[in-house]
Amino acid sequence: MAESLAEAVSRRRTFAIIAHPDAGKTTLTEKLLLFGGAIQLAGEVKAKKDRMQTRSDWMKIERERGISVVTSVMTFEYNDNVFNILDTPGHEDFADDTYRTLTAVDAAVMVIDAAKGIEPRTLKLFEVCRMRDIPIITFINKMDRESRDPFEILDEVEEKLALDTAPITWPIGRSKTFCGSYHLANSTARGSDTEVETTPVNGPKAVADRLPENERQAFIDETELAIEACRPFDRDSFLEGHMTPVFFGSALRNFGVRDLINALGAFAPPPRDQVADTRTVHATDDKMTAFVFKIQANMDPNHRDRIAFARICSGKLERGMKARLARTGKQLGLTAPQFFFASQRQLADTAYAGDVVGIPNHGTLRIGDTLTEGESLVFQGVPNFSPEILRRVRLEDAMKAKKLKEALQQMAEEGVVQLFSPEDGSPAIVGVVGALQLDVLKERLMAEYGLPVSFEMSRFSVCRWISADQPADLEKFVTVKRGDIARDLDGDPVFLAQDAFSLRYEAERYPAIKMVAIKEYH
Ligand code: G4P
Repeated sequence: MAESLAEAVSRRRTFAIIAHPDAGKTTLTEKLLLFGGAIQLAGEVKAKKDRMQTRSDWMKIERERGISVVTSVMTFEYNDNVFNILDTPGHEDFADDTYRTLTAVDAAVMVIDAAKGIEPRTLKLFEVCRMRDIPIITFINKMDRESRDPFEILDEVEEKLALDTAPITWPIGRSKTFCGSYHLANSTARGSDTEVETTPVNGPKAVADRLPENERQAFIDETELAIEACRPFDRDSFLEGHMTPVFFGSALRNFGVRDLINALGAFAPPPRDQVADTRTVHATDDKMTAFVFKIQANMDPNHRDRIAFARICSGKLERGMKARLARTGKQLGLTAPQFFFASQRQLADTAYAGDVVGIPNHGTLRIGDTLTEGESLVFQGVPNFSPEILRRVRLEDAMKAKKLKEALQQMAEEGVVQLFSPEDGSPAIVGVVGALQLDVLKERLMAEYGLPVSFEMSRFSVCRWISADQPADLEKFVTVKRGDIARDLDGDPVFLAQDAFSLRYEAERYPAIKMVAIKEYH
């Protein structure tokens, strides 16, 4: 019998992995895919990353600096669930990309290096999740190495993140003697992840003999203490973002990964409601709705295509259906939506709320776009961050100014940079959150458009979107400050200031003008 929409939706888990670089995000992703049968051999994700890096010129930056700048989605099934992992770039210079990706998930896995605890990127990404009430499952990785005491790590999570912790499993042993996990509430144990099922055991004492004699009593004592002193898991509190269930493991050595997948299936929420301008959209609503949170070019250099990643928010997407693009009101034929697996993509005949599909297009779709089956509705909340760095693009060959304009427009639509056109007609200004984005822009302008460019300082260093309750106030401000006003890609006005001081000064002089650092696409 065909699966109902409600059943299909309830099986879906869409999540991201957040971590400080090197904590083990790639290794964990790989193991999740491996156990989900999406890849055959561990090493494919990395190998694939390397292969992609050699494919296109701009990705050289990745290779040279040893960072991942590619966000993508990967799907796998495990038991009864369909999992969509949305990968995020680890480097903070691409933070805006990561933040937008987090608008498309329903849960996050926070990977913590057991020796290092909470690191700066973990903290930052956690804050974004908290802002959006995204429930978080914690995976303490690298237990096979010298690590901190588990209680100490739990305390650090509670203190630094103001998040209640509920350890679900407890590590059996540490570093060299680490050999599995003990389930605190169920009294079951699992050795490595080659054991598909856990084994019922009669309390911690029953597993202590897996450890060297001198560690047994300490294990029994601390496990009993954990059962007694730690908070029990409360799913409501988790779903509200107040509590995190904690698992211990080693992604590299295959420990704890099955515990984590099972927790994602059992605890993480199915596709959440999404707020649109006219109403709240429920995942099980009949009609298909979706929004674009990422555009990626050059995924396949043979095709020079642009893929828009769309998160389906409700209903069912069927290949060949027509969708309405809210920004233009035009119809768009969804002739070749795609699913992504670790090493391949596949045409998506049907996709449900919670799924992420790639829609190949030649510039029709932009970040923040809403697609519907006809309803006039726009999703809120995909953020655009005010750039930290503003530059003018200097072209070596002045004859190619028109080509540059087109290229910059495309790069801005993809979210590589932001583009601001000054009201006074002076050359466009590009804005980025991190300097590496400028390197990517430079490489891509050269590789894809044959445009050698350099960057010049602009006299501005701060940028804010401006609005006013009374249109006349805004009009007046834009006229008076014409030399400091520019329009973004959507034509929305921004105020460019020399520095934070002059921004504050103008904000005080013109109290009717609202100046904001984050714009939500609309
Ligand atoms: P990231 O994506 O979060 O940046 O981390 P990644 O998975 O690339 O892991 C960073 C390093 O940590 C890698 O070592 C990886 O093998 C190692 N690692 C990941 N999980 C574990 C674990 O559970 N235990 C131990 N001992 N190491 C782990 P590398 O030497 O930097 O890279 P590679 O040469 O092994 O690929």
